[in-house]
Amino acid sequence: MIAHGASASSGFFWLNAAEMQIDVLAPGWDGAASTENGRIDTLWMAEAGVVDAFFFVGSEPKDVIKQYISVTGTPSMPQQFAVAYHQCRWNYRDEEDVAGVDAGFDEHDIPYDVLWLDIEHTDGKRYFTWDRSTFPNPEEMQRKIADKGRKMVTIVDPHMKRDSGYHIHEEATAKGYYVKDASGKDYDGWCWPGSSSYPDMLNPEIRDWWADKFSYQNYKGSTPTLYIWNDMNEPSVFNGPEVTMPRDALHNGDVEHRELHNAYGYYFHMATSDGLLKRGEGKDRPFVLSRAFFAGSQRYGAVWTGDNTADWDHLKSSIPMVLTLGLTGMTFSGADVGGFFGNPEPDLLVRWYQVGAFYPFFRGHAHHDTKRREPWLFGERRTALMREAIHMRYSLLPYYYTLFQEASVTGVPVMRPLWLEFPDDKETYNNGEAFMVGPSILAQGIYEEKSVSVYLPGTELWYDLRNGSPYKGSVSHKLQVSEDSIPSFQRSGTIVPRKDRFRRSSTQMVNDPYTLVIALNSSGSAEGELYVDDGKSYDYQQGAFIHRRFVFADNKLTSINIAPDSLGKKVYSIECVIERIIVLGLSSGAKKAIIEPGNQEVEIDLGPISLRSGSKSVAPTVRRPNVRVVDDWTIRIA
Ligand code: GLC
Repeated sequence: MIAHGASASSGFFWLNAAEMQIDVLAPGWDGAASTENGRIDTLWMAEAGVVDAFFFVGSEPKDVIKQYISVTGTPSMPQQFAVAYHQCRWNYRDEEDVAGVDAGFDEHDIPYDVLWLDIEHTDGKRYFTWDRSTFPNPEEMQRKIADKGRKMVTIVDPHMKRDSGYHIHEEATAKGYYVKDASGKDYDGWCWPGSSSYPDMLNPEIRDWWADKFSYQNYKGSTPTLYIWNDMNEPSVFNGPEVTMPRDALHNGDVEHRELHNAYGYYFHMATSDGLLKRGEGKDRPFVLSRAFFAGSQRYGAVWTGDNTADWDHLKSSIPMVLTLGLTGMTFSGADVGGFFGNPEPDLLVRWYQVGAFYPFFRGHAHHDTKRREPWLFGERRTALMREAIHMRYSLLPYYYTLFQEASVTGVPVMRPLWLEFPDDKETYNNGEAFMVGPSILAQGIYEEKSVSVYLPGTELWYDLRNGSPYKGSVSHKLQVSEDSIPSFQRSGTIVPRKDRFRRSSTQMVNDPYTLVIALNSSGSAEGELYVDDGKSYDYQQGAFIHRRFVFADNKLTSINIAPDSLGKKVYSIECVIERIIVLGLSSGAKKAIIEPGNQEVEIDLGPISLRSGSKSVAPTVRRPNVRVVDDWTIRIA
């Protein structure tokens, strides 16, 4: 629980994995007392376990998040590709289907990074196997996708088919690795494969055994560009009480399931993530998406909000859900874009892409009873709109990656409620429709309305991301809703790094030049950061990264190295340059800029603000300064 008032913030964390009920009591529930000072009382009850409680106190909400993270662990740093767009469906039928979808993205000039395979790719829901009639050559399939810089993901759930021919089941049975029922026999529940048992992930020895299953040798048909999706790990049991395992099922050390139910999925996610780490000898960062999670799951990967429905309300509620997850450290999260159940009306699908392109985890997904909905199936106009939403995300990837790095150190989430950035502004406290991406961008979810009122906090101006139009802060603006995008703004006083050249996947953008978008505040200054590393390994932990702070003040932009020297055993260097600097709020009289060192002069003229097709909005732009991101330099507006 996190509480925030104008001058202080506090947090309460009860570390307990049993069934828990928390009542948030209405003011006045006890007569008069609880109405004093806007006090809100909560009542906490857990079925079992210990009372292991933590209090966090700070002057602002980010302090509380940092303290909570110091207890539960920092979010892992994702690979660069994982921050890009993912395409999923239950199910892509066969290798031909996979090739067709992959080609479809290229034909329609829509970037994507990862293609996912759901449960039907396996031989009868026996995980770590392939249905050889539909996926006869999984390695070759992955290689073809990888040739374009893309990856694949397969699903691996915790329910093991109780089938004597299935090697994992045989081994788990022989070794006594399954969760037991109250009588001490292997617990037998019903899930996708039919009769199933569940490895006891509480036991470290069993987690090691599980992790080994991801080695290339054990997981036949897997390659280094294959990553993993963990689902149904609550654990989900179709015929169990409350659709899960009975509370008296027994784990390692005779611990009853009731004591740790909420942590089962966490341990499963941990073991899978360790498996990916092990298979690559600890070199590459794992990517594992999980449906179930617990305090600390942020260390193991991403999560999503589960099975939503293709309706406007579910699109709307995805925002407060993702924001709430972020406040609990689970910053790498998102909702199924398009809605899992049902067929979205085309306008809803387009909006979902426009909102979802801002989620930290951005994946389209659909139930197998739904119609196909790859983003080019709804006519040219809608294809263009979805393409544009995905392009916007790709151009902001340098900014997102920088925010993920910040989250990996502080726990402060990528997507933030407004009050995290404006803790003194009471107008922001109840706003669950608008959100910040990092400190610099504000976006407002749009659903069916034709016009919308957007509150922009703070006293400074905000600039429309699409056309640079300025809007006053501390004001609710009534805006006409456009089908082109959801309202989104850059806060003045900030600098956002982008990569504007559109490619097929994020891998192909590695060497592309940057654009910096500077939004000046009323004193003519602005600041922002850029973090870059190799996007996949752990070398950054030994200093192999670039971390710059850009400061604009007194008509001069300076790039400052903020990487601490102490780490410096390894170095990351890249030739990337900054090819364009857009300065919103700069007087259009400025005509040239001087780059130091070198005393080199470059032109300033009016250039396009966004690279949207057909966009005519322009702003003063420093043309081709071509300074390298690794170097120290200044650019003075003359
Ligand atoms: C669960 C998941 C969903 C997946 C399906 C089949 O419902 O939440 O995303 O497609 O199982 O694996």
